[in-house]
Amino acid sequence: MKIAVLPGDGIGPEVTREALRVLDALDLPIERAEALVGGAAYHVTGHPLPPETLAIAESSDGILFGAVGDPTCDALERHLRPEQAILGLRKALTLFANLRPAKVFAGLESHSALRPEVASAINLLIVRELNGDVYFGEKGFRTTPSGEREGYDIMSYSESEVRRIAQIAFRAAQGRSGRLCSVDKANVLETSQLWRDVVIEVSAEYPDVTLEHMYVDNAAMQLVKSPGQFDVIVTGNLFGDILSDQASMCVGSIGLLASASLGARQTEYGTFGLYEPIHGSAPDIAGKGLANPIATILSLAMLLRHSLSLVAAAERIEAAVARSLADGVLGRDLGGNAGTTEIGDAVLARL
Ligand code: IPM
Ligand code: MG
Repeated sequence: MKIAVLPGDGIGPEVTREALRVLDALDLPIERAEALVGGAAYHVTGHPLPPETLAIAESSDGILFGAVGDPTCDALERHLRPEQAILGLRKALTLFANLRPAKVFAGLESHSALRPEVASAINLLIVRELNGDVYFGEKGFRTTPSGEREGYDIMSYSESEVRRIAQIAFRAAQGRSGRLCSVDKANVLETSQLWRDVVIEVSAEYPDVTLEHMYVDNAAMQLVKSPGQFDVIVTGNLFGDILSDQASMCVGSIGLLASASLGARQTEYGTFGLYEPIHGSAPDIAGKGLANPIATILSLAMLLRHSLSLVAAAERIEAAVARSLADGVLGRDLGGNAGTTEIGDAVLARL
């Protein structure tokens, strides 16, 4: 088995290092190939996603990804910015289904931005579409007839794009509580009307799943009002980006949320995918040993489960993380004072 490791920028390398220590401790027959990505790749090669990085990613069974984003690159043309590396990988490898689980860990109820009794009910999965929407439509700058500068980004979804993500979400709901909430803005957007129509069509294939629709503004409100009502949420790229950051604070910290980006490709060992914490590169704390590596360690667990079918190893990691959090080993993001390596040490000790 072979994984690609792309640590990236900012806190990416620090948090990835802790995940790799956990992987080492499991002593599994997994080869690793590391490559540059994001601003780190741009500074060396002139491109955030160099061909050799894409080749290493493509020839692996799964990708462990840290984070991209580098303020020194903010003035570059958009296609050279670090963020284009993750968007490029998702698109080039057709990783269209982003799974973002959010659940409150035992002992952390009082660390949520919500009241503990509201937070303790959170156990949901956001299924975010990752290859379409306003992220990948035509975009640009133009001048209006009256001479004003104008920016534009086209939002669109095709039927097949909606159908394939809906199928993933319905199947995920079958494996959980059998409830699916599709989030859109069909009262205003044609893209969302098509989304809703296709999700309803697909629902005919899953009579055992109860489908509900919610407008995104209401969903954002319900997510803080009574998050326990949600099980699986399926939504487009932009709404999923926003709602998943919101869900992370309902759980307690963005440093806890892992994600899997999957496509249709099966390898010898499982479903090919890319695994990353949902947080970014956090340049303000990079290199200080303060970042919480839990989201990346949990992303490694998702890689082992989905791409390598090493379910027992994934469960061991998740149990060690839950234990470490329950024992009160918390980073600054959760009001504690454990550093990146200490949190890694605590997880390793419980493994
Ligand atoms: C995420 C991130 C990315 C996104 C950025 C870094 C391009 O916010 O994975 O949620 O918007 O998808
Ligand atoms: Mg985001």
